[in-house]
Amino acid sequence: MEGEVISLAFGGYGVVKKGKDVFFLSGALPDEIVDFSIDFKRKGVNFGVVKKIIKSSEARVKPKCKYFLKCGGCNFQNLNYEQQLIEKEKILKEILKKIGNLEARFEKPIFSKEYGYRKKVQFEINDEGKICFFKRNSNKLIEINECPVLSKPLELFLKRINKNNLKFFDAKNLTLYLSKSIVGRIETTEENLLKFWRNLKKISLKGLWLKPKKGFGKYLIKRNFEKYFLYHSPFSFMQINEEVNKFLIDEILNYLKDYNDLNILDGFAGVGNFSVPLSLKFKNVFAVENSKSNFYLLQRNKEDMKIENLNLINKNFEEVDLKERIDLILVDPPREGLTKGSIEKILSFLPEFLIYISCEPSTFARDLKIIKKFYSIEYIKLVDMFPQTYHTEAVCFLRKL
Ligand SMILES: C[S@@+](CC[C@H](N)C(=O)[O-])C[C@H]1O[C@@H](n2cnc3c(N)ncnc32)[C@H](O)[C@@H]1O
Repeated sequence: MEGEVISLAFGGYGVVKKGKDVFFLSGALPDEIVDFSIDFKRKGVNFGVVKKIIKSSEARVKPKCKYFLKCGGCNFQNLNYEQQLIEKEKILKEILKKIGNLEARFEKPIFSKEYGYRKKVQFEINDEGKICFFKRNSNKLIEINECPVLSKPLELFLKRINKNNLKFFDAKNLTLYLSKSIVGRIETTEENLLKFWRNLKKISLKGLWLKPKKGFGKYLIKRNFEKYFLYHSPFSFMQINEEVNKFLIDEILNYLKDYNDLNILDGFAGVGNFSVPLSLKFKNVFAVENSKSNFYLLQRNKEDMKIENLNLINKNFEEVDLKERIDLILVDPPREGLTKGSIEKILSFLPEFLIYISCEPSTFARDLKIIKKFYSIEYIKLVDMFPQTYHTEAVCFLRKL
């Protein structure tokens, strides 16, 4: 079938329309004319893939990875990076308009290096015990031996696993975290854990864990920043693009540069990624984190750096109760966005400043639609944590009306 691509949709698909039929095509770029096949139909939309490019986009580039369009990880390796940023911002604006009925001022995106940025990776394991990713648009697996979005040491480690023909029978997945060294966690049986550890240790893995208290070798990963450090573990949340994460922290600090006596509430603190740098500059930071493993490290990070004005709360954000006046709330929720209770909590404090960091445009738009009745949006910035993929992170700076 042949068609002209009119735009890109969230998910990284080129959109073709023929009469009433809509086609979402992997590998197709705006303004191209393509020959395509259809894989399946879902909710009235036909999903397919490009077979041949009849008229090519000027922004088209050669993908770096041999698994591109076979593996489900990347969507945009065929699109030059500058255009990726333009398209992601465009899609984000459309979603904000459609779901949130809002238009906002966008400032220049925070961008990343194009490849080699991932510091954390989850590999799936197939029935042959081999390292895989999910196939495109599927829950089937594809064996892999390279992944250029991984940081070099992680990609080399993947190659070493395959070169040594290591297999992980009866394991579901292997997650690796990189700082100076690599530590991992694996979903398998207790019996297998020791066997896998012996093999992985030989190719320089420093720790392998099944559960927080069951494993071998190194457990903590230390990430060094200019003025502080953060401990992580194979069970804690970690921003995977360290460089962009640093730019995002700088953006927040720069936005607040004229203030220093603020009381700040960080609603989804993780191990302290934002709370720690904010506590080094501002009067008081209240860091809320509901997961035990993240909270343990948040505590450890506070204690190791002896940060007295960092106050820790191991609760759901929805349940936080404070006597202090709060000047700024920062929220960085999971993809599901803010619950009704979280929005009510923000509005009960009604701080002067609100910063919302989001990794899911649809919930971001849904939440901002409610919040904008009480806050005006100063600006939004695309934060490109995940180049080559459709995943879209953004930060929104708001001020009380
Ligand atoms: C997207 S992560 C962000 C973590 C941190 N801001 C960072 O940059 O590393 C969201 C965090 O919120 C925590 N979380 C999820 N729901 C929560 C809730 N209702 N209350 C408090 N924390 C929550 C998760 O455990 C996770 O650590």
